[in-house]
Parts: sequence; C-alpha cells; structure tokens
Amino acid sequence: MANDSEPPVMQSRDRPSCLVESPIGADDGPQSDFSLRRYEPRDEDAITALWLRTWQAAYRQIDFAARLDWWRERWARELVPQTQIVVAEHRGTLVGFVTVDQATRYLDQIVVAPEHWGSGVAGALLQTAKRLSPCGLDLDVNTDNIRAIRCYEKHGFCISGAGFNPSSGSPVHRMSWRP
Ligand SMILES: CC(C)(COP(=O)(O)OP(=O)(O)OC[C@H]1O[C@@H](n2cnc3c(N)ncnc32)[C@H](O)[C@@H]1OP(=O)(O)O)[C@@H](O)C(=O)NCCC(=O)NCCS
Repeated sequence: MANDSEPPVMQSRDRPSCLVESPIGADDGPQSDFSLRRYEPRDEDAITALWLRTWQAAYRQIDFAARLDWWRERWARELVPQTQIVVAEHRGTLVGFVTVDQATRYLDQIVVAPEHWGSGVAGALLQTAKRLSPCGLDLDVNTDNIRAIRCYEKHGFCISGAGFNPSSGSPVHRMSWRP
C-alpha cells in the first residue's frame, strides 16, 4: 500500500490456516463518535471521494484526481471482489475504511479523513482488520509516510522488509503484525 495505492510490491500468496469470521466493532481502542460497519455498494462514491481528498491532503504534490479512473477500476475489479471492507461512519458520513484480503493477509488500504486523524478511527479500523485476519497482517507503506508508519507501529506492526513501488519507484517498507 504505497502512497499512490498501486499494487503491492511483495504480496504474499500464502493462505493462512486459521481464518475465522470475526465480528466488527469499535469497542476497543480510543473512542470518539464513530461506528464501524461492512462496506455496501452504495458507499462506492463516498469511498472514492474520501480516498481522493485524504491522499491529496497527505501528499499535496501528487495529482490524485488524475488517478481517479485507475482507482475506480482497481476498487471495482480488485478490492471489492477480493477483500473484506469495513467503513467508519461519523454521524452518517463515511470517514474511513480499511480493506483486508483474508487469503493473503494483505491490508491494501486504510484511509481516515484528515479531520479525524488522531481520533481513534484508524486504531479501530486496524483492530477490526486484525479480527478479520487473526493470523497476521502485511502491508506496504511509503518510507516517507511518517504518520502512517507511526500509526502502524503504535498498533503493533514492525518493519519486516523493504521494496519499491513498481510504478513510481518510491521506496516502501513492508510492515507486518503477527498475533
Ligand atoms: C494513515 C492514517 C490511516 C493514520 O490515521 P491517523 O488517525 O492519522 O493515525 P494516528 O493519529 O492514530 O497515528 C499517527 C501517529 O503519527 C504521529 N505523527 C504524525 N506526524 C508525525 C511526524 N511528522 N513525525 C512523527 N510522528 C508523527 C502522530 O502524532 C500519531 O502518533 P501519536 O498517537 O503517538 O501521537 C491516516 O493518517 C491516513 O488516512 N493517511 C492518508 C492515507 C494513508 O497514508 N494511508 C496509509 C497508507 S500505507
């Protein structure tokens, strides 16, 4: 999961052997006024808008609007069919989401609206991701995405490898959480 959300560099294809269905909940971790639920098709436009404005806030020098077609295609053809998606809502507005591929343990996307950074939404989404993939989680993060790296470290992830985004060439850390 690099800054431009392109496909992972080092995606594991190993299927974990202890998959379980887990409930969704925002009952552990810091609390604010939000709730979690499964993604529904009606969320697609709100997800796209959130993805765009959040990444644009994180990397102002990159034109994410120019990548919208790519993102929509990837969302519809890869992430929706292959991953479990949980969204966070604040007073009826979608303010975050996370995707977890239970077959590969890969967390491809976690996005929280900038006005909810530091609120506990990210921690709750990561907690849910752990429930959905109890054997562990892997992700890729750009090495200059200090906020995300710090967030992952806070929630028990360690740097477990290194790579490069295949399209941008940007260096990425592989970060992993294991129970
Ligand atoms: C990544 C993301 C989901 C994390 O959510 P968040 O609410 O911002 O995360 P948190 O506030 O819980 O944690 C961020 C930590 O980084 C720290 N931090 C922020 N900027 C920092 C900096 N420049 N140097 C060091 N630490 C920094 C914060 O203080 C916080 O740590 P603390 O709680 O110990 O104070 C959110 O920032 C986001 O959506 N970013 C844009 C999309 C993205 O990068 N997704 C992940 C791609 S791999």
